[in-house]
Amino acid sequence: MTPDPSLSPLRTALLAQFLGALTAIGLLALAYPRLLAQPLAVAVLQGLCAAYTSHKLDAPPWWHAIHLGFMPLAVLASRLELPPGWYLGAFLLLLVVYWRVAQSRVPLYLSSEAAATAVAALLPDQPCRIMDLGCGNGMFLRRMARLRPDCSFVGVEYAPLPWLWARLACAGSANCRIVRADYWRQPLAEYDLVYAFLSPVPMARLRAKACGEMKAGARLVSNTFAIPDQEPDAVVDVPDGRRTRLYCYRPNGPATLAGNR
Ligand SMILES: C[S@@+](CC[C@H](N)C(=O)[O-])C[C@H]1O[C@@H](n2cnc3c(N)ncnc32)[C@H](O)[C@@H]1O
Repeated sequence: MTPDPSLSPLRTALLAQFLGALTAIGLLALAYPRLLAQPLAVAVLQGLCAAYTSHKLDAPPWWHAIHLGFMPLAVLASRLELPPGWYLGAFLLLLVVYWRVAQSRVPLYLSSEAAATAVAALLPDQPCRIMDLGCGNGMFLRRMARLRPDCSFVGVEYAPLPWLWARLACAGSANCRIVRADYWRQPLAEYDLVYAFLSPVPMARLRAKACGEMKAGARLVSNTFAIPDQEPDAVVDVPDGRRTRLYCYRPNGPATLAGNR
């Protein structure tokens, strides 16, 4: 099957589910029609077919696991006879946490405490300004703000629940501000260090934005995801459980005046 690059992840997922259902029902109708009366058997076969279709559509591997378990879990959950409001509640919770992840392709996962310490060590000695693009629950910024009370920190987040969490988490830090906004619309010119822990998808666009907006000498630090086709000027391996790697760039070259390390 030729993957269609124009398909969004959600459309690919729906297509895999639909083709999985068609294939499973078709196979059972031909080979074991009596099993069609057993919802769990149909769901297990549908999960297998949907996972296979997802693989053929070149979806990322975690989607295959989701397809494999989705329908069987839905059938098992229906046996619990939960009130429909629970499903609505779960959907709304996922919505306010993951927000527009199907478009951004940047889900919520959090930097470690050791990563915050390592990024703080990259800051210039004098007071400076730092932005976290997609600050999640704000804990990374809060740690940094404590380590460097002389610097000012701005976190940008658009998902409602992480944003609210970050606002509350940083409420006691006078040098930390959380903004509910789309980071693509935030100017980067005034920042000495911009931190990003995103995904591989937006890195080329981030490079263009950083080159167009950041001042000479300012640093872009990306947790885990390197910018394609650009050599970092430093790579920092963080001693944490997940072996975080920080890719450090100066998108517009070194500062003209001495100052940044
Ligand atoms: C991987 S998390 C990183 C959280 C935090 N920076 C940290 O390191 O702990 C990425 C966050 O970016 C947010 N995000 C994704 N696209 C965004 C956008 N265009 N504008 C604002 N936030 C965005 C997501 O909602 C998610 O909370």
